[in-house]
Amino acid sequence: FHVDTDPAAAQKGAYPHYMLKEIDEQPGVMRTLVQEYFDASGNVKIDQDLLDTLGQADRLYIVAAGTSYHAGLVGKELFEKLAGIPTEVHVASEFAYNPPLLSKRPFFIFLTQSGETADSRQVLTQVNEWGYPSLTITNVPNSTLSREASYTLLLHAGPEIAVASTKAYTAQIALEAILVKAYGEAKGIQKVKDFDVASELTKVANGMQELVDEKHNVEQIAKEMLSTTRNAFYIGRGVDYALAQEAALKLKEVSYVQTEGFASGELKHGTIALIEEGTPVVAIITDPKTAAHTRSNAQEVLARGANVLFIASRDLATDNDQIVLPEVDPLLSPLVSVVPTQLLAYYTSIQRGYDVDKPRNLAKSVTVE
Ligand code: AGP
Repeated sequence: FHVDTDPAAAQKGAYPHYMLKEIDEQPGVMRTLVQEYFDASGNVKIDQDLLDTLGQADRLYIVAAGTSYHAGLVGKELFEKLAGIPTEVHVASEFAYNPPLLSKRPFFIFLTQSGETADSRQVLTQVNEWGYPSLTITNVPNSTLSREASYTLLLHAGPEIAVASTKAYTAQIALEAILVKAYGEAKGIQKVKDFDVASELTKVANGMQELVDEKHNVEQIAKEMLSTTRNAFYIGRGVDYALAQEAALKLKEVSYVQTEGFASGELKHGTIALIEEGTPVVAIITDPKTAAHTRSNAQEVLARGANVLFIASRDLATDNDQIVLPEVDPLLSPLVSVVPTQLLAYYTSIQRGYDVDKPRNLAKSVTVE
């Protein structure tokens, strides 16, 4: 199953919109990535020179924009928690004019579906002038960011036509996990050696399939909860907070609902004042360490009249959680928790009669600063 070599990949086919097709393609993209990056005996196939250079770094800097930036937030957790290498994530347009103090041996990772984002290209030009090594992870071979970086890895996700990025987000996270695996194996890091990325990603693919098969439950929830609202919140902690930020961007982009992805523990420091009768709040709960805390934050907004939707992993779910996620490793949970949030955005846009594949004022690749 190779999404990126199928000539029909760039056609809508039987789908009403590219965004829905691309959401549905995500399980296949996970399987394609496992096929592309693991050999028959389960070893990762990644360029040794890249791994040698990456292995010399004392700090990673992930630079990206929009959804790709959100994929970088999850990548940080993977690099730090599994491979123990300090990792920073920066919005490209901020880094370009306000770079952080760099470590002695930095390594830059650019996440970019199009490989043409001007903000990211601007940073790569600066990184090249500084003479530091870089890797571009992209969906477009021979794109500018791919050509101008020291190394490149392809997402093999097939053409992503909808302006709202879906399969590129999950492919970026999966490829970050694969890169962590290769890096940690090369360094002999036990935690990484014990982390069977190939089988975890196959589990993720199966979980994603379950969720896309249940899409009409989400369609109903979107209708009941989001079809007329002017604002909404996604709340979570850790990787669930990273996901909340991506989920918020999806809903904003295609349905124009003012949505915040918020650290659930931070609500009480002011923002909870915005919660009114009926305000939609989606609580993402996939991490055993923080599940109880996010649930109590959800109770606080419920007490103020919020309309709360719980999206929880099966092992952490309670009876009245409306969306239950298949269990995957908590560090990879955004790969499954993102699916219902992508569908919530898609159906909300459709129910409002908007052009979901081409939202107002947006371009698929922002090639201007
Ligand atoms: C995401 O849904 C948006 N289309 C946008 O934020 C996008 O992720 C951003 O412009 C970065 O694009 P890139 O991944 O092609 O660099």
